Amino acid sequence: MKKKVSVIGAGNVGASLAQMIVQSGIADVALFDIADGVPEGKALDLSEACPLWGSSSSIVGTNDYAHTADSDVIVITAGFPRKPGMSRDDLLNANAKVVSEVTEKTSKVSPNAVIIVVTNPMDVMAQVSLKVSGFDSFRVMGMGGILDSARFRTFVAWELNVSPEDVEALVLGGHGDLMVPMPRFTTVKGVSITELISKERIDALVERTRHGGAEIVALLKTGSAYYAPAAATYQMVKAILFDEKRMLPCAAYLNGEYGANGIYTGVPVMLGSGGVEKIVELNLNEQEKADFEKSVSAVKSLVEKLNL
Ligand code: NAI
Ligand code: 2OP
Repeated sequence: MKKKVSVIGAGNVGASLAQMIVQSGIADVALFDIADGVPEGKALDLSEACPLWGSSSSIVGTNDYAHTADSDVIVITAGFPRKPGMSRDDLLNANAKVVSEVTEKTSKVSPNAVIIVVTNPMDVMAQVSLKVSGFDSFRVMGMGGILDSARFRTFVAWELNVSPEDVEALVLGGHGDLMVPMPRFTTVKGVSITELISKERIDALVERTRHGGAEIVALLKTGSAYYAPAAATYQMVKAILFDEKRMLPCAAYLNGEYGANGIYTGVPVMLGSGGVEKIVELNLNEQEKADFEKSVSAVKSLVEKLNL
């Protein structure tokens, strides 16, 4: 029997992720949304692409949580994007309500699943999902660091005119403006970029990475990025389904690691069928530590506003 992934929210990120899963054939998918007809329509369209892709995955589009039962992985992309006139706090409260509702409904019918939270502000929404599901913290995580690292990799590859495949990068901290790109841990085939690129140019690439999401919002005007976010989430889903033990930057619940307690933030983890099987602690220098703490404080202040 195929593994099952439920994708909650059939919008841009959710539908793109569903496509990647179904096209590659790694699992069956339940695509859930509250919008009438939308998940059903997208699932039907994807089903009709399967013969062309040579995929035997099945996908059901639904407004009924019963169809998400017994999932191995639940991916939460449901929620609202920020609109003009909306404060960060408005988005925080509105999406907390959505994430809370979908976590409650999905975790009840898939008590053994691993939950990946994508909805923004992601680190805080992961905390909401942890609380509502009552799952162990290693089974609830957030996607952000893989996306931010992929953006950093892209910009480094362009700078050096090398294949992005040969660039490894690491971005830690919360998935927000205070994220912490880590040049010291960013390499081209093992050579640190601090030896390949001037400090001034590295600073510019770091800044572009920090605002990578906003750069795309400014271009699209009607929404935010979704191809790279879906690809980043796909990497996590695959690592969990196939017990790949991949080391990837994800939002994980910290219990003293990196000096932080009771909070989600982006750190390198080992991802396998158990979820976050290990949090990898790096030796940060003073500047990196200070930047990381600043980023964690920003997540904490949003969590405090929710009174979780
Ligand atoms: P979208 O607006 O295209 O899709 C959101 C979907 O959620 C809509 O189809 C909507 O009907 C659905 N929805 C709303 N309330 C719901 C509920 N109660 N139950 C089920 N479905 C519900 O948005 P998009 O572009 O797919 O982004 C989704 C979320 O992911 C946003 O919060 C966005 O900020 C976030 N995001 C996070 C990233 C990350 O790196 N963590 C990257 C990209 C997006
Ligand atoms: C991004 O980084 C909006 O969080 C989303 O593109």
